[in-house]
Amino acid sequence: MPKPSPRPPIEVPGLAARRAAVEILDAVLRRKLPLDEQLGGKSAHPSLATLAERDRALMRRLVGTVLRRLGTLRHLLLGVLDKGFPAEAPRVEWILLVGAAQILWLDVPDHAAVDLSVRLAQSDRRAAHFTGLVNAVLRKLAKSGTPVAADPARDTPAWLLARWKKTYGAETARAIGTINGEEPALDITVKSDPAQWAERLRGRILPNGTVRVAAHGQVSLLPGFGEGAWWVQDAAAALPATLFGDMAGRTAADLCAAPGGKTAQLANAGAKVTAVDRSPGRLTRLRDNLARLKLEAEVVVADVLEWQAGSFDAVLLDAPCSATGTIRRHPDIPWLKGEAEIAVLTDLQRRLLDRAVELTRPGGTLVYCVCSLEPEEGEHQIAALLARDPRVLRAPISATEVFNQSQFINAEGDLRTLPSHWTDPDPRQAGLDGFYAARLRRL
Ligand SMILES: C[S@@+](CC[C@H](N)C(=O)[O-])C[C@H]1O[C@@H](n2cnc3c(N)ncnc32)[C@H](O)[C@@H]1O
Repeated sequence: MPKPSPRPPIEVPGLAARRAAVEILDAVLRRKLPLDEQLGGKSAHPSLATLAERDRALMRRLVGTVLRRLGTLRHLLLGVLDKGFPAEAPRVEWILLVGAAQILWLDVPDHAAVDLSVRLAQSDRRAAHFTGLVNAVLRKLAKSGTPVAADPARDTPAWLLARWKKTYGAETARAIGTINGEEPALDITVKSDPAQWAERLRGRILPNGTVRVAAHGQVSLLPGFGEGAWWVQDAAAALPATLFGDMAGRTAADLCAAPGGKTAQLANAGAKVTAVDRSPGRLTRLRDNLARLKLEAEVVVADVLEWQAGSFDAVLLDAPCSATGTIRRHPDIPWLKGEAEIAVLTDLQRRLLDRAVELTRPGGTLVYCVCSLEPEEGEHQIAALLARDPRVLRAPISATEVFNQSQFINAEGDLRTLPSHWTDPDPRQAGLDGFYAARLRRL
């Protein structure tokens, strides 16, 4: 039988958003490209260029839901497919995932989800052959009608789940997986007056002063963004820079600083900040952020391992890491990263830590942090540093420094937040990034 040739798409409302979602899933899941790069900046996917803001928001929601619940979706679809996903036409899988996510969890009528998915298949050279399959599979899924909950044991890759079970126990590993299945709220660090901004942004204030906003459109259109009153930063990410205490008039080096959330905090606290990062592109974002916020820092493009400078009262090393504590915000991470990368990163973190010690003046404070849940990148790094360098001592963090959240402090006196630490009856208000931070004194 001759293959059906693809039909030129008839642009029905909502089709462009679904097509962009399919293209971005193809980039992330097949070509292994980071989601953030696809969604913005110079490397943004071309399919976004003509997308209206409303369609962009829908596309983000579709991609986010598919990536957060990928294991559950694949399991359900494979239960309906006789021969699995067609290997010769990868877009069929992405079309089915986007269609199924709408049927199961989005406020889209089933018939519209099926119809738009069929249209997507019709307009794709390879997927056109599978239009009938897309139609039949999604109709079957819609017909069953029973509500389906995401299964964190499927939505977390086995290697990662096994690690979390080993480190935190089965129950906590599952709780982390469950919270990773939900779209997170928008967390905002304000320069001052969180109560006023919570009211204006219709958010709520978390104990550390972060303003948490549940529903929002384009961030740059929210009140206060243009005037530089606040910046976006997860509540847990806002904790490490506060561990230095009073920073007014003190010198601080923010190593690995871009895009600058912690630089902004240090500058806002009155420190004389030098922000160092090896990525010129990310430092452009840092400069833009500081300019918008009307805050100042000296900005240096350099590899910290080679950067020569004097010593500082305070040194913050927010090291590059696997970022497994930020999967809620970066749902592509579990599907792009693997265990082998953790070993490469731990070697770099060790060398950066040694350099950070040299840059801390005797009597000064070094804070090391990572947004990873993996102990090799956090707890083990600091244990090894303390064992090899007698010039550094741990300065334990107390619960009173983190707003009496004693669950954030481990037995050694380090900060260890887990995504499951912040519970709330409303899943859109729950969760925070998984962060590790240790505070050290240089002798
Ligand atoms: C976790 S991110 C930093 C986030 C930032 N501190 C913030 O709060 O916005 C890690 C950063 O480390 C930078 N980086 C990685 N290796 C580096 C090195 N050897 N020297 C300098 N910067 C490095 C990356 O470019 C990246 O911007």
